[in-house]
Amino acid sequence: MPKIIYPQEDEPSIVLQQQMGGTILQASLCMGLTHYHACDGQARCTTCRVRVIAGLENLSPRNEAEQKIATVKNWSPEVRLACQTQILGDVTLRRLVSDDEDFDLVCSESLAGGSGYERNVAVMFCDIANFTDFTTKHLPYDVIHLLNRYYKEIGQGILQHHGYIDKYMGDGIMVVFGLEQESAAENCRNAILASLEMGERIKVLNKYSSKHFFHDFQMRIGLHYGTVIVGEIGHPSKRQLTVLGDVVNIASRIENENKSLKTTILASQELLAPIKNEVRCGKQHTTQLRGQQRQHTLYEVLALNSR
Ligand code: FES
Repeated sequence: MPKIIYPQEDEPSIVLQQQMGGTILQASLCMGLTHYHACDGQARCTTCRVRVIAGLENLSPRNEAEQKIATVKNWSPEVRLACQTQILGDVTLRRLVSDDEDFDLVCSESLAGGSGYERNVAVMFCDIANFTDFTTKHLPYDVIHLLNRYYKEIGQGILQHHGYIDKYMGDGIMVVFGLEQESAAENCRNAILASLEMGERIKVLNKYSSKHFFHDFQMRIGLHYGTVIVGEIGHPSKRQLTVLGDVVNIASRIENENKSLKTTILASQELLAPIKNEVRCGKQHTTQLRGQQRQHTLYEVLALNSR
């Protein structure tokens, strides 16, 4: 009979046996191994998920129910539902839900693909130049009111070009382009189009703010492209989809470079590569960004050639 092996740290591996064609979950339950299975094998809860360490070829292919979940959650081929997967030979596995805390976390995951996967995206950081100065000279009500008018204006430009507003940080905003998996060129073009549109929209805001507050807003935008980890994070009472990784840090540093270069929109070479001939650039600057080992070449974005 095929063996199912669960290696354990500091203890001998757990070895179960299963009939050919029986599922991984059936083997666990028959042998009294704790194996979470909140939906009783209906391919709905995903608490029975395992990671295949060796012997992937000795498992049945994903059935329709499992494939549906794996697609939504962007699982790699090694992550399998124990209740749906039949054993055809020896395998080595790890249970991915190993205690009640894991169980609660998995149960509170949405089915919107928030459980952790990689994706190539364009990341934008944008903030308002000298906003602290504005906050010290105006009433709290006016500061929040103006900030919300600002976010409403630039938000339209972002949404119009398929950006996902990841987070607000006071007068700063982080936006991601490409969570819906368009091509690299589409993601990068959308990031540029949104940046230019935001520049137009801030002119509209400035008509209002200069009239009522004698103040003109100026934005700084940093853009970078690369691979990030996408997932929902946070306390179960307030969890949100976000992206993590060095690409995010670099985009933030690029935004900051606008201060010394006196530019408004700066994009990395990586972001411009898929659409380079489409973008009209100004200054070019090669620098070692704070916290980075290698040099980055940045370009001031002026316009799209087609506009
Ligand atoms: S037991 Fe719920 S998906 Fe496998």
